[in-house]
Amino acid sequence: MCGIVGYVGHRDAPSFLLEGLHRLEYRGYDSAGMATLEDGVFSLRKKTGRVLELGGLLKTDPLKGTMGSGHTRWATHGQVTDINCHPHLGGDGEVVLAHNGVIENYTKLKAKLVALGYKFITETDTEVVAHLLAHHYRDQKKLTPENGPKENATLALEHTILMLKGTYGLAIMFRDLPETLFVARQGSPLVIGVGDKEFFVASDQTPFRGYTNDVVYLSDREIAIIEPSGFEIIHRDTGVTAPSITTLQNVSEDSDLGDYPHYMLKEIFEQPISIENALRGRLDEDEATAVFGGLNLTAQQLRRIDRIVLTACGTSWHAALVGEYLLEEFARIPTEVEYASELRYRNPPMSDTTMVFAITQSGETADTLAAMRECKRKGHPTLAICNTVGSTIAREADGGIYLHAGPEIGVASTKAFTSQVTVLIELALFLGRMRHLSYPAGRRLIRQLKDMPNKVRQTLECHDKVKQIAEKYAGFNNFLYLGRLYNFPVALEGALKLKEISYVHAEGYPAAEMKHGPIALVDEKTPSVFVVPQGGIYPKIISNLEEIKARGGPVIAIACHGDEQIAKLADDVIFVPEVEEYMQPIVTSVPLQLLSYHIALLRGCNVDRPRNLAKSVTVE
Ligand code: AGP
Repeated sequence: MCGIVGYVGHRDAPSFLLEGLHRLEYRGYDSAGMATLEDGVFSLRKKTGRVLELGGLLKTDPLKGTMGSGHTRWATHGQVTDINCHPHLGGDGEVVLAHNGVIENYTKLKAKLVALGYKFITETDTEVVAHLLAHHYRDQKKLTPENGPKENATLALEHTILMLKGTYGLAIMFRDLPETLFVARQGSPLVIGVGDKEFFVASDQTPFRGYTNDVVYLSDREIAIIEPSGFEIIHRDTGVTAPSITTLQNVSEDSDLGDYPHYMLKEIFEQPISIENALRGRLDEDEATAVFGGLNLTAQQLRRIDRIVLTACGTSWHAALVGEYLLEEFARIPTEVEYASELRYRNPPMSDTTMVFAITQSGETADTLAAMRECKRKGHPTLAICNTVGSTIAREADGGIYLHAGPEIGVASTKAFTSQVTVLIELALFLGRMRHLSYPAGRRLIRQLKDMPNKVRQTLECHDKVKQIAEKYAGFNNFLYLGRLYNFPVALEGALKLKEISYVHAEGYPAAEMKHGPIALVDEKTPSVFVVPQGGIYPKIISNLEEIKARGGPVIAIACHGDEQIAKLADDVIFVPEVEEYMQPIVTSVPLQLLSYHIALLRGCNVDRPRNLAKSVTVE
């Protein structure tokens, strides 16, 4: 997704902006740009490719100034070219702005502006906003010549955003206002970092580390006018709004790479700790249940719930599938998993005793946010299971549970998945113990949960074995991932990991489904990854595996230590510790994360920033 940074204060703006763009790289982008205002003239530098290349351009052709904006672009409208990079100038250089989001009515607005004589040099929807703002600013100066430039600029901005349909996060500068940064938000996140006579702006708080821990999350329909002396927030409907400043806790160096070659590998190996964080303070052994501080629902309300809907996208949707099995097994509550992009438009029948959970790492996924808002609109208690404190979904949900997994920088989600599953096990325990789950059963679940960080530590010992297997299979171009029950979502997740970072085609299926068609795909060029730990249906899945072998398909098995039978059947085996079936997704997903990581490396792919992808998909 696009990333925006902005600065106004006493520092050299370009250095903060460049560092901020580097910290936003993980969001995914294809080009970067920056603008500063100096002596009444905007200067811009833009470059397709990595932020590093923009940095190189700035070395040879530096920018100066104590106010500026920067942008990493993930192209939605217009080719990936230098000219299409943000920020974009409006009018004859009266304004410059950077934009994250999609303006849905930009063609109509563009036609009007062309008719008014505005010249467009890019193919972007953003340039339309820039010219529209310049046009309204010119009009406003004629309408209210008695106003100062700040008042007219504010009125022009308010008028402009009323005409926009779609989503935007905007960072705006006016040539007449050398010390005033404007921001506006509708659907694309923006955060203000509060410093001492200086202010920072970004799409999320990662660029603020080392500058400030005090942040203000802008809400939809809000604009902010920011100057070194202070800032003001104006809500479109309610007017001037008192800012609520959040002080971020332990803004650690978490998101630094450390000794790892890639964030993805770092985050895979962080999982014992991230799972500990998901457990910390939530296991009540005396009552044999889980404890949550932020559900914001009474026991009475929770007991009335007779149906749960879990909505998410991508990897979070796979975690939701595991959640469905967990909630139905331990809490006996009928649970439905919905793709958020479907739920937001599908309007399924849901009674007022249906509770909705939005599951999301970033807390900014547009489809998940829209689905959650749709459910809230209909009066359902709507909670979030989320990793990013202060994110839009976390703030708009009626309550929720944080993962506490720390920043997940790699585009491919890893530790968030295992933390989401951990939290869903805790939730199933919590709801089950409010209904009929026995004390001993609760104690047993808690004992097993407490052992999970260790089990994952043991699982990570398979790393060298996975590397060897990756070397053997990196040249294959089609894979099947197969699992059953709790490991069916793991098969889907393993396939997604491989697809998204190595660009290799992979399909996940319930293993027994193969004979209903997909087995026609099996030949010696199509390896099957079987997730086949011990469990009640182990013999069944072994026969599914034998069906594949009988057709010459190579098989990689994820199996339990001590399983002697599997080694005779599979071509390659990755052993993992034996755990209860409902805990297996936490353990069996780890080798699949490592397998996709190493195959992608061997295929020369950028594992942290795979092509075409963004860490947080804030557009539809
Ligand atoms: C997972 O590896 C992908 N990067 C992607 O599917 C992701 O899970 C999805 O976009 C949902 O993101 P969220 O959890 O931040 O809402």
